[in-house]
This record gives sequence, C-alpha cells and structure tokens, in this order.
Amino acid sequence: MLVLGIETSCDETAAAVVADEHPRIRGHRLLSQVKEHRPYGGIVPEIAARSHLEHLDGLIAGAMADAGIGFGDLSAVAATGGPGLIGGVIVGVMEGKAIAFARDIPFIAVNHLEGHALTARLVADTEFPYLLLLVSGGHCQLLIVEGVGRYRRLGTTIDDAVGEAFDKGAKLLGLGYPGGPAIEAAARAGDAACFALPRPMRGREGCDFSFSGLKTALSREVALRTRGAGGLTAQDQADLAASLQAAIADCLIDRTANAIEIFQSRYPAGRALVAAGGVAANTMLRMRLAELAAEDELEFVVPPAALCTDNGAMIGWAGLERLKAGLIDGLDFAPRPRWPLDPTAPRAIGAGVKA
Ligand code: KG4
Ligand code: ZN
Repeated sequence: MLVLGIETSCDETAAAVVADEHPRIRGHRLLSQVKEHRPYGGIVPEIAARSHLEHLDGLIAGAMADAGIGFGDLSAVAATGGPGLIGGVIVGVMEGKAIAFARDIPFIAVNHLEGHALTARLVADTEFPYLLLLVSGGHCQLLIVEGVGRYRRLGTTIDDAVGEAFDKGAKLLGLGYPGGPAIEAAARAGDAACFALPRPMRGREGCDFSFSGLKTALSREVALRTRGAGGLTAQDQADLAASLQAAIADCLIDRTANAIEIFQSRYPAGRALVAAGGVAANTMLRMRLAELAAEDELEFVVPPAALCTDNGAMIGWAGLERLKAGLIDGLDFAPRPRWPLDPTAPRAIGAGVKA
C-alpha cells in the first residue's frame, strides 16, 4: 500500500508518500512558511493559504519523485481535513480530492490531531491503547488512544494551548517567531530558578491545563526588568526563557502524572506514554516525560523532532491506517475548522476557552 499524505492546515506545506512496508516513509517534502510570516510576528491566515496554493503541486511532485512512483501507483490520497486555518485546509483537501477523482482511488480526510496521535505507530509500532500527551500550537490535551478513530479525552486546556504559551512568551521576550525553538535555544544559557513563575493547575485534580496566567506573570517580570532601563539584557532573556520553559514543563508533568493514574486504572493492559505535536520536539520536555514514564513502568514513545512538528508523513500514515480500517471519505467531505478527536468530551470550561 502506498498513500500520499498532504498537510496544509497551518504554516507548513507538506507532502509525503508512505508505505505499509519498511521503509515506511518513501518520499517527504516540506516547506516552512516561517519567513513569510515572520515580519508579522505570527501566522497570517491569508498569506498561509496563498502560499500553500503556490507550493503544494511542486512539493507533491517532489515527494512522488523521491518515492520513485507515479500517481497510478497510489492506493489512496489523504489530506488534512481540519482542524486548522480554513483557507489552507481547503487548498489541501481540494488537491487531494482532485488526485483521487482523476485516478479513481479513495480520498481520506485526516483529522490533523489524529495525524499527530498515530505518528507513534509510524515510528515505533506502538500498540493500542496508549496514553497521549498532544502538545501543539493550537492544542494541549491528554487522551487515551483506543484505536484508529477512537479517542477518550481526559483533559484539555481551559485557555491557551501550550505552543501558544511558548510563542507568546517568545514574543514578550523579543525572541521572535516561532517561539518554541527560540525559547529552547535561549534557555540553554539561562537559570530556570531565577524567576519564580506560577505553575497554573499544579496539584489540582484532573487533567486540564491553563497557561494564560503564565503569560501574564511573564509580562509582569519583563515590565519590571525593563522599567527605565531600555530592553532586556541577553542574560535576562535567557533566564526568563529558562524559567518559562521549566514552568511549562512542570505543568505538563503534573497533569500527565494524573492522567497516568487514570490510564493505568482504566486500561491495565496499556503499556505506553506517547508525546506528539510540535512542543514534543522540546528536549527538556522529552527528558522529563521519559523520567515520568519510567517511574510508572510505561514505555515512553516520542517521534523524532521533525515528525513532532507538522509534516506530510503523519497525514499519509493516518490515511494508511484509516484505509486499512475501511474508513474512507466521499468527495463531498467538507473541510472542518474545528474537529475534536473525542466528540463526546464535554466542552472545556474556563475564562477565554478556545478548545
Ligand atoms: O504541531 P505543530 O507543528 O503545529 C500545530 O499543529 O500547531 O506545533 C507548532 C508549535 C508552535 O507553537 C511551536 O512554537 C512549538 O510547536 N514548538 C516548540 C518546539 N518546536 C516547536 N515548542 C517548544 N520547544 C520546541 N523545540
Ligand atoms: Zn500540528
């Protein structure tokens, strides 16, 4: 089986060809739009959609050439069908449908979050059920992955996503966009004990997250350090970045520890803790999660950093898993700006809820 995966939901245009036999990733192309959005300090949806439209054809052709195949060799086409910035999602879905229609092969609309969720199986054959910490620019959730298309949400953020906390934090510190990698790099030269930032929700029951207070606390520290003295010094930037990274990691670890307890009592056969999404590329977080999993005798699975951030292989792989399960979509599929993995989960309650 060979599946073409298309990802256009945010600021990366990506295409990949994946196979059910090893090597699984046969062709993999990605174009980051970081340079196009940087002048604005964040993603501009209209620019993103136009850029996807301009580059997607070439990236697909490149991925197919790397795989050494033609469209006639494909078993199916999978494209991110949501959630995400709707203009970009429409571009990918239309392209996927056009190829599927022209070649008379199945079209599969992949939930972007399911792409992240199943990457552990692409790289490590992780067996269901597993506990998943999904940490990205738009989401922060703890879920039990029971099977393809079967998710139980244990917790979510009641305000900002964790990637947003990194991105907004980096902006406040003058470190630019995208914030996660910038905070991580600056933190290497910093002292995490320098600033006592809060740990929202720590010690509370359940698995929900909150990050907006952290952003407020950080902006207060920045205001105090810069009063009358120009900008932040490089050492202040590093110390604040290290303090922010440590606070975020503490929150994620605390909430994940609660989720492990629930997972192990409800799913005694479950063996793995999986991390996924762009923030799972963070080295310190990976180390802390590995320690936590070891304490609870779980295997810790996290994709290589390049497969944590958005990519086409995760969409192709989720498409392949859905194809095997007989879960294909019609050409009338409508792109979905919002698309929860667990539709039965109650809406999060809190100030400024987005999830
Ligand atoms: O999964 P992703 O590529 O896109 C979404 O689906 O949102 O995640 C992007 C997010 C951004 O907020 C980015 O700042 C964050 O992941 N990120 C990181 C790191 N690399 C990317 N956060 C912390 N440390 C990193 N090394
Ligand atoms: Zn993502």
